[in-house]
Amino acid sequence: MKVIFIGPPGSGKGTQAKRLAAEHAIPHISTGDMLREAIADGSDVGKKAAPIMSAGALVPDDLMIDIIRNRLAKADARKGFILDGFPRTVVQAEKLDGIVGNGTEKLRVLQLLVPDEAIVKRIALRRSCPQCGAIYHLENQPPANDNVCDRDGAELMARPDDTEPAVRKRLEAFHRQTMPVAAFYKSKSWLREVDGVGPVDQVFERIEQSLV
Ligand code: AP5
Repeated sequence: MKVIFIGPPGSGKGTQAKRLAAEHAIPHISTGDMLREAIADGSDVGKKAAPIMSAGALVPDDLMIDIIRNRLAKADARKGFILDGFPRTVVQAEKLDGIVGNGTEKLRVLQLLVPDEAIVKRIALRRSCPQCGAIYHLENQPPANDNVCDRDGAELMARPDDTEPAVRKRLEAFHRQTMPVAAFYKSKSWLREVDGVGPVDQVFERIEQSLV
């Protein structure tokens, strides 16, 4: 199974992609998570990406394409993968075609539909675990104990790019640069639109149904 998640910031890509990957025992490849790891490691990629990310803009295509090419070359991605956050521009989508497009199994592209009004509210109350990457929401998916991860007890954090101005910028980048990616896949008939509003379990069910 080769799946791409497309959706605005806060639409639930990470939440749903992690679950789908666990269910199908294939890697969840999140370019946002990979960049945040690079920043935490203090690598050159991290140093380049950090100011761009906190401003809510997109990291340059050539850097992202190298990252994804190297990641998809690893053995665990041979039997399938869930891409979360890539491709985000038509240039990235065209390059991805060159990397995996000639395989026997076609890419399936899921677009999560969530209106902009819902996004800012979701993101304001998001917290994530800096150790394991688990995603919480203080109202919709709260941790069992105040502000600590259910899995490893680490203190939960808000992301530095989750400020309101950065979220508005990320939404603008989504509409301007990533919506054309949805159109690119629609023209190939690979796109499936999924309503991303409602309880997490219900959205997951819709995703599973759209993959049948
Ligand atoms: P990335 O990490 O990919 O961020 P994003 O696309 O902005 O998406 P988010 O992680 O904010 O949201 P999500 O859709 O995963 O939602 P989540 O499941 O957390 O990218 C960050 C940055 O990295 C980019 O801005 C860019 O700078 C850079 N970057 C990454 N990839 C790049 C690329 N390919 N090219 C260039 N630059 C790149 O859910 C959000 C909240 O809602 C959570 O609190 C969750 O609990 C809650 N929630 C989830 N589902 C529901 C539901 N059904 N109902 C209510 N609440 C829900």
